[in-house]
Amino acid sequence: MTPTSTPTLEVVTTTERDAARALADEIAELVADGRRRGRSAVLGLATGRSPLALYEELARRAREGTLDLSDAITFNLDEYLGLPADDPRSFRARMRATLFERVGLREDRTHVPRCDLRTAEAALHAEIYEREIARAGGIDLQVLGIGRNGHIGFNEPGSGRDTRTREVELARETVEDAASAFGGAGGVPRRALTMGIATILEARRLRVLAFGPGKREIVRRTLEEGIGPAVPATFLREHGDARLYVDAAALGARL
Ligand code: F6R
Repeated sequence: MTPTSTPTLEVVTTTERDAARALADEIAELVADGRRRGRSAVLGLATGRSPLALYEELARRAREGTLDLSDAITFNLDEYLGLPADDPRSFRARMRATLFERVGLREDRTHVPRCDLRTAEAALHAEIYEREIARAGGIDLQVLGIGRNGHIGFNEPGSGRDTRTREVELARETVEDAASAFGGAGGVPRRALTMGIATILEARRLRVLAFGPGKREIVRRTLEEGIGPAVPATFLREHGDARLYVDAAALGARL
């Protein structure tokens, strides 16, 4: 791995596989450290393609008996709104299949915003979600991907630095990118619940994953554009312990 850095976002150029190993090591240390101190490690998680190699690595270690994640507490970044509670396309269902069931994480230790709420209920649920994060002692390490338009969580362009968990409308690019999972863009939910930028920046460590040529332009913008709501991922540069894992394809000309 070759560490380089911008002022506050450490960039680690590596392979997707080595990033998964490094991050799994860091998570294992957090869990072990929590146990020594008699508290649960609190992990912030993302869905999407970017963290899949990490979840695969965590599942492999759990299967081989070298990692026990069962006493961790998790909070996912976001969830679609407007789906039945047990919809297989919900982020909750995807997290079960890609991680929770494979590492023995009991459902009551995992938090994913609900997908089956109407607007009035969603606002209260969002408030409670923030309180639950606080009650758990805050997030030790938040895993993130970056959307093609620079969103983190579902904080689409225009989302401010002080936003908290709330209902949002998905941007056109986000709907397009989700189309294949919903049989076309017309089937994609238009609204979602997401942790806010302020919620994300309160996590003690941020670990961001971006691989492949499709991420090249947004990685460049995240690192180079002025910090602000036009590219919400630029706010990651204001965090004191944020690390971006990229492969050579995503870093492009900056190598
Ligand atoms: C997912 C999430 C999104 C994704 C982003 C990148 O929970 O919050 O911000 O991280 O859209 O998606 P992938 O990894 O599929 O490229």
